[in-house]
Amino acid sequence: MSDNRIFVFDTTLRDGEQSPGASLNVYEKVEIARQLERLGVDIIEAGFPVSSPTQFEAVERVAGEVGMTVAALARAKEIDIKTAYDAIKHSAKPRIHTFASTSDFHILGKFGEDKYGKTLQEKRKTVVQMSYDAVAYAKTFCNDIEFSAEDAGRTEIGYLAEVVEAAISAGALTINIPDTTGYTLPSEFGNMIAELRKRVSNIDKAIISVHCHNDLGLGVANSISAIENGARQVECTINGIGERAGNASLEEIVMALKVRKDYFSYYTNIKTEEIYNTSRMVSGFTGMIVQPNKAIVGENAFAHESGIHQDGMLKNRNTYEIMTPETVGVRKTKIVLGRHSGRHGLKARLDELGYKLTGDELDRVYKMFTELADKKKEVFDDDLRTLMGDEINKESDFYELSNIQVSAGTSAIPTATVKITAGEESLMESATGDGPVDALFNAIERALDIKSNVESYQVRSVTSGRQAMGEALVRIRSGEKSFTGRGVSTDIIEASGKAFLQAINYLIKFQKTNEINNHEKAKIDAI
Ligand code: KIV
Ligand code: ZN
Repeated sequence: MSDNRIFVFDTTLRDGEQSPGASLNVYEKVEIARQLERLGVDIIEAGFPVSSPTQFEAVERVAGEVGMTVAALARAKEIDIKTAYDAIKHSAKPRIHTFASTSDFHILGKFGEDKYGKTLQEKRKTVVQMSYDAVAYAKTFCNDIEFSAEDAGRTEIGYLAEVVEAAISAGALTINIPDTTGYTLPSEFGNMIAELRKRVSNIDKAIISVHCHNDLGLGVANSISAIENGARQVECTINGIGERAGNASLEEIVMALKVRKDYFSYYTNIKTEEIYNTSRMVSGFTGMIVQPNKAIVGENAFAHESGIHQDGMLKNRNTYEIMTPETVGVRKTKIVLGRHSGRHGLKARLDELGYKLTGDELDRVYKMFTELADKKKEVFDDDLRTLMGDEINKESDFYELSNIQVSAGTSAIPTATVKITAGEESLMESATGDGPVDALFNAIERALDIKSNVESYQVRSVTSGRQAMGEALVRIRSGEKSFTGRGVSTDIIEASGKAFLQAINYLIKFQKTNEINNHEKAKIDAI
């Protein structure tokens, strides 16, 4: 049976965080990592430590927090590999995940003549050596080394086999075959795995892993086809988030194997009842809304709308339901807290939803909870999740919106006044705009003396009814990077202001760390 065990490698905190606009702070990463442990993933990829001091810190914190294998990403460069190991060295089970590009597109596009050789053949040879050297060097730090052949999906199979064989001979215990650009088709990708098993003489010394992007919507199908052809590790993310169109979604792969165990005999160690909580937590912290019709975790995944379907369901659930909502942790009955619920009740419910709070954090959340319960009679799970995603993760040096006053009307000029504080600093400004939200954004920009480019702005209600909390998401862009802020309040104008200010906070923080980064990069380049 063990041959049919599929290892789940979750990369929500690394590839998932590379989704446009989704940046997670250290607190959020640790909280998600704990939830992934509860979910039962086998390996968690915590980040790319060499890329920034904040990434390093987050990987280090996660490594010290959870008991499962913690992987850190590193290019096939000594400085990356050493930094990756430094970040995970306190983990109970550290894994260095190093990678090199193998497709001709990447080799010709990324590798210059000076270091890699003049012709394609010369460059290919350099990449084989570089892959071998990277694994051998990583092996001097720890035993568990994973090697990825970036853009393997578009790599000529004979050459791919050569690189894989070299990486295994240097000691790689896991060989990852990424479809980096989401280009392949299920049968084609499955055949690729089967071919590698035939062509690579030492393949039995490593576990084959796959990492499928979703550009053609085939990430999950490709991963399953790879499993059928011998892959035993899948790399995936919660809600399928990740670069561009995202990665294969963890919940879809896991549930496909579970629901269709009559067809497949594969299994994972995932506690599927934790899927929904994990999905909501990741969506809340990243600000990436799950589409309602998303398989497994979308709002409509278990909703039956037409009369014929409802009638069928009442007679026998099997008519239109292939898995129960409870299997993935969606509850039939909603638990409601209210003004009279005490700290214990709140803590117990938050524990069940996957949030582990320290005494101080619980004090802050309890205060927010009582303020909310005063405004709305019933506080639902989604309200609590929203609170957790809002104030609790605020960073100490962030600007806060401490007061707003907005006036607008059909014949009035929309005007907003804001008071923004950060520690001792306090700033006040007023501005007009095309509407109340525009006036508010203008006032915030004026107070901080910053101009930003708002790329997207959304408002939605988190729970139902007139007293529902409003959640606003604002994405701003600065050059190549975008930043998403999220704000909640029973007042949607206030929620919008909070979201905008949070996005600006992330931008300012990025600019500050980037200055350090450029300095670090100069040091790295000099090595
Ligand atoms: O998509 C990809 O190729 C990756 C690798 C770094 C594994 O994310
Ligand atoms: Zn990827």
